[in-house]
Amino acid sequence: MPKYDRITPEGTRDMLSLECEAQNRITGKLRRIFKKDGYREVRTPGFEFYDVFAAHAEYYPQESMYTLADGRGRLMTVRPDSTIPIARMTATKLKGAETPLRVYYAQRVYRQQQELRGRSGEIMQMGIELIGSSSFDSDMEALELAAKALAAASSGRFRIEIGHVGFYNRLMADLTATAGEKETIRRCIATKNYAGLNDVLDGIRPAGRSAHTAKGAKTVKTVDMIRKLPRLFGGAEALAEAAELMNGYSRELTEQLDYLDKLFRALKKKQLADNFMIDFGLVNQANYYSSLVFRGYTTDAGSPVLSGGRYDDLFADFGEDLPATGFGLNIDMLTSAALKKKSGTLAKTGSAAKSDAASASVSASETKVRIALTKGRLEDDFVKLMERAGYDVSEIRDKGRKLLLSTPGANIEVFLAKAPDVITYVEHGVCDIGVVGKDTILEHGGVYYEILDLGIGKCRFALAAPNGQNPLADAGATVIATKYPAVTGRYFESLGMDVDIIRIEGSVEIAPLLALADGIVDIVETGTTLKENGLSVIETIRDISARLIVNVSSMKLKKAAVDGFAGRIEKVIK
Ligand code: PRP
Repeated sequence: MPKYDRITPEGTRDMLSLECEAQNRITGKLRRIFKKDGYREVRTPGFEFYDVFAAHAEYYPQESMYTLADGRGRLMTVRPDSTIPIARMTATKLKGAETPLRVYYAQRVYRQQQELRGRSGEIMQMGIELIGSSSFDSDMEALELAAKALAAASSGRFRIEIGHVGFYNRLMADLTATAGEKETIRRCIATKNYAGLNDVLDGIRPAGRSAHTAKGAKTVKTVDMIRKLPRLFGGAEALAEAAELMNGYSRELTEQLDYLDKLFRALKKKQLADNFMIDFGLVNQANYYSSLVFRGYTTDAGSPVLSGGRYDDLFADFGEDLPATGFGLNIDMLTSAALKKKSGTLAKTGSAAKSDAASASVSASETKVRIALTKGRLEDDFVKLMERAGYDVSEIRDKGRKLLLSTPGANIEVFLAKAPDVITYVEHGVCDIGVVGKDTILEHGGVYYEILDLGIGKCRFALAAPNGQNPLADAGATVIATKYPAVTGRYFESLGMDVDIIRIEGSVEIAPLLALADGIVDIVETGTTLKENGLSVIETIRDISARLIVNVSSMKLKKAAVDGFAGRIEKVIK
């Protein structure tokens, strides 16, 4: 039996002194800030009964929690979040305490990640909860405190986006669609997958004569608003655009819009407008949050480092009726951003380091866009798109063995990588933009925005089998070979079939010929490979094409540069 006595479990790591010291500097500053504003520390147990989180299965699916059993066989979970245990504690130990109650926490949370790709399953979090108040002032207090916390804890520039789950909730309630369609819509809005959103919404049209009734007109308007929701983000201009779009739709939406407008104006008065933006497509935290939601980004961190919102209904799960607002900061990400910044400064010498004043480095990094491009099939087609969009692609064409390529005359750097690595680079924020096939996206998942269907690299996912055979109809145990086990697993699950999947790295077509499998799931472009190997398509699973994906942080911190590039490419897509 192998002994695991020299390594730490996946998703965990040791922290050496330098990192501990950097982390302590950040937590120390945050403690001082929270205390000064009247927040007092609380701690909750490292593990809790599973029932505490059971009502929030959508937000904390069972497979994302580390579970264990106590001596009496009761299911417990290692703390995946601090807000829910604090709600439990407030509703019990602090029942009847004077409100508003201001508490802060500094503790680790544990979440199982399906594929870690460098992400940790153990996260140090600090945050605040302002409990027992639902006023405009309490939302402002939380937002200002979030800005103060990020100003102190982030090494570069930071930005906080604010949104309201009410827009999404209202529009979805007004939309007649299946639960599956609604989930696809939610995912497309959260990932700014404009193309995917259009596809699903195009199928939701009032039929026949009902299109001309008042109800039909409302459906058309609802669909139009949902379509635009993820594109509505930015400063005051996004609010103005939203006001025009939502004009006359419903009083509820107008009130929510006015609320965001009021918050934004109040933040502007406090000279904080540059640090805040609005995103009407902020929906993926819509579980326990009930109205205001916000997320914070900082340079050198590829994912949000802060997330929060108002959660007025959470306490009801614990028998109390208390409104609350709060936010949590990912201290590990802030620490690694601080260390990255420090090593970048140390790497420079003398005058270069001195001239690297914060503002100068910010403006340079803010306009530079780094693109990870899938090498091989997509490479040539995408380079042609760039050329048509007016970029000088000479260096990319004559690259030789060079991997990091520049675009003369534009502040763009192109980097060639294998498809799954494109996703990893974009998720980590070392590349702002990625060009990758939908096949890889479906197989690997991940957190990023998928903003353009590039219309290149078109092919399809298909189930194929030797001529004359059909794994869907033939009885018996079925074995499928594929480079895409996740996609294949989901496909057969949707058919209610339990098949054995064998992962193959390439030339999958050979597997049925050598009797390793009954069929394959693979991408088919011209169909030549199948034909020449005596296989035929049994069913097309879905169409595939290349997508432009964007790191979530770059989309907010480098909006102008990212929009500029994507806009030019969008214009030349056929
Ligand atoms: C892909 C796919 C098929 C082939 C289909 O393989 O896995 O084998 O292309 O193309 P066609 O329908 O035009 O014949 P790829 O060339 O990427 O190589 P690999 O199988 O070694 O990964």
